[in-house]
Amino acid sequence: MSGQVLEVEDLRVRLRTPRGPADVVNGLSYTVGPGETVAVVGESGSGKSVSVLALLGLLPARVATVTGRAVLQGEDLLTMKPERLRQVRGPGAGMVFQDPMTSLNPVLTVGRQLVEGIRAHGDVSKAAARRRAADLLGEVGLPDPERALDRYPHELSGGMRQRVVIAIALSNSPALLIADEATTALDVTVQAQIIDLIEGLQADRGTGVIWITHDLGVVAGIADRVLVMYGGRCVEDGTVDDVLERPAHPYTRGLLGALPDLAQPAVDGVVPDLATVPGTPPAPTDLPEGCVFWPRCPVRGDARCEHEQPPLVQIGSGPGLPHRAATWCTEEAP
Ligand SMILES: Nc1ncnc2c1ncn2[C@@H]1O[C@H](COP(=O)(O)OP(=O)(O)OP(=O)(O)O)[C@@H](O)[C@H]1O
Ligand SMILES: [Mg+2]
Repeated sequence: MSGQVLEVEDLRVRLRTPRGPADVVNGLSYTVGPGETVAVVGESGSGKSVSVLALLGLLPARVATVTGRAVLQGEDLLTMKPERLRQVRGPGAGMVFQDPMTSLNPVLTVGRQLVEGIRAHGDVSKAAARRRAADLLGEVGLPDPERALDRYPHELSGGMRQRVVIAIALSNSPALLIADEATTALDVTVQAQIIDLIEGLQADRGTGVIWITHDLGVVAGIADRVLVMYGGRCVEDGTVDDVLERPAHPYTRGLLGALPDLAQPAVDGVVPDLATVPGTPPAPTDLPEGCVFWPRCPVRGDARCEHEQPPLVQIGSGPGLPHRAATWCTEEAP
């Protein structure tokens, strides 16, 4: 075994759509180490959610074709039998979705859902599981956790539901936690509390975290590494310092507001969210042949950028974790 919690290799997802096949994830490779947090950033539609749904077998087979490898603690999630995958979800991998209602059962109380999750993966009495459930709800900042256990999801606010989903995901101390805009809708105090809780789990259990967000403040605060997605590809990845302070790809520089012609400059040097890059991302049914960012790139060259896809290669030669980018124009990085 490699010692990684998760190793994703050449992950590809093609979706059947009314407009023809959509190549939504196109050869994604990355690893998540024990205790490590990998932030995934990129504009809406870049394939962030689909790429993690694919890992856990949560895309319906009749619309999605998933290929590649995704090895979680030595087992390939993509070739696993559905029963095994159901066992693995929970202690193996917990996920917090963008929309909390997709993961809550509307006809079961919060307590029942949490208790079932806790008991499904461990030999715990009902009473002990209920106590653990109430503790967890308290830890994610839910007021009056005992009462919340007896409520149905629709009786809770959106923010409370989201915290319930986070509690469910954390209830089994998973080896891998996938958080898809998990704290975006929560206020900053609750967000900080949840981040603390997750960091505690990482320290105790070595949980690897994939954190999908648009919030650069959160990325800078919690990520060890950052992966920038565009058009279903990783266009740049590296340590949080490399990517945020020395972005190499024109797209990353645009998102960070670091390329004046490409994005609105940061106000007073504060970049709380990803900047807006002018233009629109490519449709996954009609990806460009060369560099995926070519049609919007302000520093593009001609024939090579248009026709040849730049490979994701290591840039610079410093020691430490690799910094990679897929662009023909790294030499122009400031
Ligand atoms: N069920 C589906 N059927 C067809 N196309 C889909 C489906 N789900 C997602 N897509 C398409 O796949 C692409 C990637 O979507 P995805 O939800 O992964 O983006 P994202 O990066 O998570 O965006 P956001 O930041 O808005 O959450 C988009 O073009 C989207 O329209
Ligand atoms: Mg998404």
